[in-house]
Amino acid sequence: MEASVAPKRPVIFSGIQPTGIFTLGNYLGAIKNWAPLQEENDCIYSIVDEHAITVRQDPAKLRESALRALAVLIACGIDPKKSILFIQSHVPAHAQLSWVLSCYCQFGELGRMTQFKDKSQKNADNINAGLFTYPALMAADILLYQTNLVPVGEDQKQHLELSRDIAQRFNHLHGDTFAIPEPYIPKVGARIMSLQEPQKKMSKSDANVNAFITVLDDEDTILRKFKRAVTDSEAEVAYREGKDGVNNLMTIYSVVTGKGFEEIEREFAGKGYGDFKLAVGQAVADHMKPVREEFQRLYADKAYLKEVYREGAEHAAHLARRTLDKVYRKVGFVPAK
Ligand code: TYM
Repeated sequence: MEASVAPKRPVIFSGIQPTGIFTLGNYLGAIKNWAPLQEENDCIYSIVDEHAITVRQDPAKLRESALRALAVLIACGIDPKKSILFIQSHVPAHAQLSWVLSCYCQFGELGRMTQFKDKSQKNADNINAGLFTYPALMAADILLYQTNLVPVGEDQKQHLELSRDIAQRFNHLHGDTFAIPEPYIPKVGARIMSLQEPQKKMSKSDANVNAFITVLDDEDTILRKFKRAVTDSEAEVAYREGKDGVNNLMTIYSVVTGKGFEEIEREFAGKGYGDFKLAVGQAVADHMKPVREEFQRLYADKAYLKEVYREGAEHAAHLARRTLDKVYRKVGFVPAK
């Protein structure tokens, strides 16, 4: 009797830049969703250090951040036995496919990317070519693995749409080559805002440390930052337009406790913002405590981390090579072997 072949599981890919310590925004918008997806899908997660150098980095700090990122992701529940976890620069196919895809992507399309516009404003003295072609590398990350689903926060939606356009264009010209990836963006938590300027996205590069919570902040720091969070002068815990600060805190509270907005409004009816901010801070501190503790343990074990990233890269390189070979053939390169 023929052995039955298991149906192919959906492929998930996502990446995160190792620039500084991840924020609560990174966690709630993306990482938190990565672990549960491992059960029913083939997941591939990457620490995208090649993307990070589009902005000038201190080399020693970048190396340290990449290792720390690896330990954080494992502490957040990504199991290297279930998922492929690797560092982007260890798999050359990313840079190789990126070059090809940059030839299938228009100058005008890249110029419309809001992240490029934002980052070139913030780094006016270093608007390098890599910052501009960044989305071609991101498309390569995703398309190399025949990815079906990409779990990201709201700010990556535009890049993902461009990845889809590039894949469709290539398939149209050369025949079926890439799977067309779909975004996987959470309904609540896809855009966590700064605690100090709630019209702005929470970002790890914010100069004001009170604007963001990192996944490694201790309880006192978390409580203090939430206590200082900007709200409004109404003293009413309600989710509605114009209450950006309160809406953001309600969103954070909702994602970490699983409570809906109406339930939260009832819970804090007649109470002041002081009680509310304390409750949000405490819920976040409790939620993140196991991650912080597990991180300390993992980060101390450098031999284990090395084993994880080596094995991850080996697996990833094997899968990526298959797609890259196909692409090279389709565009007309002479096979090396
Ligand atoms: P990066 O490193 O800026 O962020 C990693 C993930 O965190 C999400 N995120 C947020 N979600 C909610 N609220 C926020 N304030 C917030 N800030 C960040 C991001 O949406 C992202 O999902 N270009 C990507 C990295 C990347 C990638 C990829 C992602 C490279 N290749 C391929 C997916 C697939 C980036 O800069 O993410």
